[in-house]
Amino acid sequence: MRKSIIISILLVLLFLGSFGVMAQDDQLVIGLSMDNLRLERWQHDRDIFVKRAEEMGAKVLVQSANGDDMVQMSQAENLITQGIDVLVVVPHNGKVMGSIVREAHANDVPVLAYDRMLMDSKVDYYLSFDNVRVGELQAEFLVERQPTGNYFLLGGSPTDNNAKLFRQGQMNILQPYIDQGKINIVGDQWAKDWLPQEALSIVENALTANNNNIDVIVASNDSTAGGAIQALAEQGLAGEVLVSGQDADLAACQRIVEGTQTMTVYKPIQDLATRGAEIAVKMAKGEEVKTNGAINNGEYDVPSVLLTPIQVHKGNMVETVIADGFHEMEEVYKNVPKSEWPEQ
Ligand code: GAL
Repeated sequence: MRKSIIISILLVLLFLGSFGVMAQDDQLVIGLSMDNLRLERWQHDRDIFVKRAEEMGAKVLVQSANGDDMVQMSQAENLITQGIDVLVVVPHNGKVMGSIVREAHANDVPVLAYDRMLMDSKVDYYLSFDNVRVGELQAEFLVERQPTGNYFLLGGSPTDNNAKLFRQGQMNILQPYIDQGKINIVGDQWAKDWLPQEALSIVENALTANNNNIDVIVASNDSTAGGAIQALAEQGLAGEVLVSGQDADLAACQRIVEGTQTMTVYKPIQDLATRGAEIAVKMAKGEEVKTNGAINNGEYDVPSVLLTPIQVHKGNMVETVIADGFHEMEEVYKNVPKSEWPEQ
């Protein structure tokens, strides 16, 4: 009898140990559920988050759903059953993933919405940048340079609440120009999953429909800006049409110094991911999290930590993205003759 009990206890420990959760009894375990790792920025988010969390002695179990809602839901449920102490979610679809909050709370697991909101739920905290301000910074830069003409609105993923906030900020700036008849909106489309190839076909169609008569493309992030600029290049218009962006992706920073992309909005991922790990550890310990705002998610005003986004263009690339070490000078200016590089 004793032998069979010992064997079954060993089997249970072996099973739990296989999840790695049993590594150390008192070690905090963070579950990080991510939409995808396709875009460069989310790879930065993951690497910085994990590094900071491990510095604080926590273990991080990372899951990427590759843009699939059902996969992300089951991965998050699986993390909860593995006995994590806190769940951090970058939702592919904020409305779908909102329902994971109830399941997490039923298991005494607090939830942090990371960069993208979890809708219609009692999610505990939201950490992001002021995303309405992101849209305002994009539109302000564009109207300063082109206060009249034909504008095409290239929105982000329709499943991402941030895409709606960027658009809200953009319209805060554009609406008065539209009302005065100075700016004419010649099209408004949303790029599924922020995919460059979606943006490419949307802008190809927009250029055809408008006989190439587009002065500005209000792109909400760099991956879609890249697709748009590819479509412009096909018509020999790259560098002629203003294009906004966001994330300060390396390819976008190269396009900016080479003159085909007008600007990007830099959101220091170092700050976001570091703060994210620190907040997650505090939540796991049941400690108070200091917030500086509250964003309504359809259920309630979620206590939020909102960081400040930064306008980046040809004139300040060195003192922002490069000074932060987000990209190296040699990477950003690799296609620019060294004689034309700015002073570092
Ligand atoms: C948004 C995020 C943007 C950009 C986009 C594409 O949610 O706020 O910065 O990364 O996703 O991934």
